[in-house]
Amino acid sequence: MADQPHHPVLLEEVVEAMNIREDGYYLDATAGRGGHVAAILEKLGADGRILALDRDPQAVAAVTKRFTSDSRVQVRQANFSSLSDVLQPGECFSGILFDFGVSSPQLDDASRGFSFMQDGPLDMRMNPADHPSAAEWLATAEHHEIRDVLRRYGEEKHAHRIAWAIVDARADDALETTAQLVALIKKVVSARPQDKHPATRSFQAIRIRINKELEEIAAVLPIALDALCVGGRLLAISFHSLEDRIVKRFLRDQARGDDLPKEIPIRDADRNPRLRLVGKPVRASVAEIDENPRARSAIMRVAERLPQSREVA
Ligand SMILES: C[S@@+](CC[C@H](N)C(=O)[O-])C[C@H]1O[C@@H](n2cnc3c(N)ncnc32)[C@H](O)[C@@H]1O
Repeated sequence: MADQPHHPVLLEEVVEAMNIREDGYYLDATAGRGGHVAAILEKLGADGRILALDRDPQAVAAVTKRFTSDSRVQVRQANFSSLSDVLQPGECFSGILFDFGVSSPQLDDASRGFSFMQDGPLDMRMNPADHPSAAEWLATAEHHEIRDVLRRYGEEKHAHRIAWAIVDARADDALETTAQLVALIKKVVSARPQDKHPATRSFQAIRIRINKELEEIAAVLPIALDALCVGGRLLAISFHSLEDRIVKRFLRDQARGDDLPKEIPIRDADRNPRLRLVGKPVRASVAEIDENPRARSAIMRVAERLPQSREVA
């Protein structure tokens, strides 16, 4: 099930916003199946290079296979928060892309446990070598931890009751499959036909917790900024407000520069901003959403690294 397609979102918009130099060195920090990598490669010359990262070994295998004959592509399995470990001293990127969240192959493969639509092991790990899996976590997490995760990462109104249902159920039988969890949520949450599937929010929340998705984003943004060459672009595509809020705040703070008291009379440039925001947030066109409904919730923010008027010691 490793080679199902993934429709890369905002493909043309990514290529345009990246402002690609033929001889540039680019990072796709969430390579997936390599859709964005392929589009960036089309604009690169023989001296251009791209580093494709993913934490998922299946994605890494698929991208390695796809670009095996292109020496401009280097593929690495890593969490993007460990970016500093993969960058050689003195190197910087001309552009960095993040396309957060899960890929279609991850969602569509029942054995990965991401989907409430298909029965499979309750796993949800992007990298199956990481622990805990969803089943391992749900077996031991306390009621309040489960409740807080469902509330915070899923904005689930019934978090309290779902968490009790999980704690009660596991006293009798281990929760090992997605179908077990779905059945349990359905008992607690009644949904009208026009509503989202009642397990949508809980599955999103548990997946975010298992993969520490928000911690990864918060950790990587300052590292990515340091790894950008002056004039290099940072592109971040988010799929829900929790991701986008982290990106938006980070870019805003870096574009504002040093947080000095308002009464200090200095020009904006003297606040030493590290980024310039490029354009407005970008959303998918109606045509793209028609073709790929997943693009509906995508929002891309773009910023450019500025030269430093003074470097922080
Ligand atoms: C939405 S998909 C990217 C799809 C890709 N742009 C394409 O065109 O095929 C997100 C990918 O990011 C990976 N990913 C998510 N969080 C990651 C992290 N912290 N470090 C590295 N890869 C991550 C996932 O494993 C998944 O393959």
